[in-house]
Amino acid sequence: MSARKRVVSGVQPSGKLHLGNYLGAMKQHLEDQRDHESFIFIANYHSLTSVTDAARLRALTQDVALDYLALGLDPKLATLFRQSDVPEVCELTWVLATVTGKGLLERATSYKDKVARGLPASMGLFSYPLLMAADILIYRADLVPVGKDQTQHVEMTQDIATHFNTAYGAQVLARPEAKLNDAPVVPGIDGQKMSKSYGNTIDLFDEMSAGRKRIMSIKTDSTPVEAPKDPETCNVFAMYRHLVTPAEAESMAARYRAGGLGYGDAKKALAEAFERTFGPARERRRKLAARPGDVEDVLREGGLRARAVAAAVMEEVRATCGIERARP
Ligand code: ADP
Ligand code: TRP
Repeated sequence: MSARKRVVSGVQPSGKLHLGNYLGAMKQHLEDQRDHESFIFIANYHSLTSVTDAARLRALTQDVALDYLALGLDPKLATLFRQSDVPEVCELTWVLATVTGKGLLERATSYKDKVARGLPASMGLFSYPLLMAADILIYRADLVPVGKDQTQHVEMTQDIATHFNTAYGAQVLARPEAKLNDAPVVPGIDGQKMSKSYGNTIDLFDEMSAGRKRIMSIKTDSTPVEAPKDPETCNVFAMYRHLVTPAEAESMAARYRAGGLGYGDAKKALAEAFERTFGPARERRRKLAARPGDVEDVLREGGLRARAVAAAVMEEVRATCGIERARP
């Protein structure tokens, strides 16, 4: 095992979490809690760029907390909190904005993609990478576990840290590294990238029957049952392989190649693997949801721990910049 590092990552509460989110990001967060000092937060300020309904944002924030806890995030090992419980993050965002060139933000591909998909081109969406940089830099993160689509944001964070340090001639902010896992982009039921904005997701905590129905509707080609099939081009196999052991994946791949395996049977195997992986978590989630006070306690304590770290770094940033405040 490599040396213990500080890991920081966030998830937006902007919709139900799906298999792509789990394999691309959450699974790493759950693994990291054993080997590293983990800070995982619910990026509710980021979600204001797409959710403008207060009740919905509150519910989605609660959902993300329940999802993580049900999937095994252990509040004794990792710090789980709401971004908004650390208001210093918004303060640092402004300071970072003053040392960041507009050109850097204009190169963000995620901004362009989101605008192309119909999100309003607000200043918030444009400045999204600054808020994300503040999220990371305020904890002096070593590693940022994210999916591939977020690596540009982590690179921008590195540049922004250097801009700040250069502007003030002091080594105050630490450059983080992105940490990618090996899950490639997970396809949705239509074969495009699984994404809540494409309506093609398999959600982690759907009722069993609804999840099964989604799985049975995954798009496949029209190769007849008897014919050999290529597992590498099959959307069903692309999900299955990540939910089973390598030996089980290999044995399923062999059945594809041998012929005689219908897509219906492959989908049933996927539905079973999905149920084995998420069935017990669904049960835990149901129990946790009945105890909202306990979830709130976890978030409050996590927020206090995170804020203590963030407040100390923000103090240093203020001192570096010459920003003064009356002592309480
Ligand atoms: P969505 O596309 O559903 O809006 P987000 O952009 O909120 O998802 O992504 C949250 C996290 O989940 C990111 O780290 C992203 O890399 C990961 N992720 C989302 N969709 C996928 C996918 N289809 N395959 C792998 N990772 C994904
Ligand atoms: N932008 C990330 C996403 O959409 C969420 C996020 C916000 C984040 N702040 C972060 C991820 C800080 C890692 C570190 O998935």
